[in-house]
Amino acid sequence: MTEDQLVLIEREGPIGIITLNRPDALNALSPAMLAAVCQATERLDQDASIRVIILTGNQRAFAAGADIKAMAPASPMDILRANTKQYWDRLRRINKPLIAAVSGYAFGGGCELAMHCDLIVASESAQFAHPEIKLGIIPGAGGTQLLAKAIGPYRAMEMILTGDPINAQQAFEMGLVNRLIPVERYLDEAKDLARVIAERPPVAVRLARKAVRHGIENTFREGMELERRSFMLLFDTYDQEEGMRAFLEKREPRFKGK
Ligand code: CAA
Repeated sequence: MTEDQLVLIEREGPIGIITLNRPDALNALSPAMLAAVCQATERLDQDASIRVIILTGNQRAFAAGADIKAMAPASPMDILRANTKQYWDRLRRINKPLIAAVSGYAFGGGCELAMHCDLIVASESAQFAHPEIKLGIIPGAGGTQLLAKAIGPYRAMEMILTGDPINAQQAFEMGLVNRLIPVERYLDEAKDLARVIAERPPVAVRLARKAVRHGIENTFREGMELERRSFMLLFDTYDQEEGMRAFLEKREPRFKGK
């Protein structure tokens, strides 16, 4: 891939790494950038050799939000026609675990992009914000819902109504971030985490992830139902037999993803 592409894709064994590559605009999420992120993510989702996907930016910016230059002159009809919701819907349909490796700004849509991932590894220089209120708008890609679920309604309300950022340490303490890592190591840490998950049985990973997400998006009862169905279904997999046999034989399991 060449440097002039909006995203770069790399593969390291079972890990796919998507790097947002619009550094001059702090990786602002224009519709073209969102489309590129979706295409790359879907490509890796379809790739049988990939088990975990990392989304990252650069040290200065994960992504500074929706592209304000593109948005400024828009009418409601322009927003409707641009239909950027389609890209966020596509991201939510990805089946493999997504890890956001965040350094620098994760603002507005950038914070929403991180929150569309299952895990967030942050560098000590990461900052998270929903500054839309300062532009006369509100978050438009799930920020009001995702942030309130991630850090609680009161802290989310403060961030969304003030538009002010929180630093990486605060984000870690609030539970928005899984791991807080020095800037020179955050991407390696995300890869280490990805490698651990990549070693787990992929069908169980897929169903576990789906059950957690389903419970967040629906009622407790629906989440419990899906969990139980998935739990039973896994007793029809090779990896369940292998995992339990390996435990009883006191050896490491050799999972096949079936
Ligand atoms: N859209 C378009 N361009 C952006 C951008 C954005 N969201 N954020 C930064 N840029 C551009 C700047 O215009 C600038 O470009 P030029 O050099 O051509 O002028 C370049 O990136 C570097 O930015 P700054 O000079 O501003 O860098 P800084 O270090 O001084 O400040 C910042 C960094 C605090 C992140 C600041 O750029 C900023 O506040 N950006 C906007 C953040 C924001 O409001 N995001 C929310 C957008 S709305 C949204 O996301 C809606 C949604 O829910 C989907």
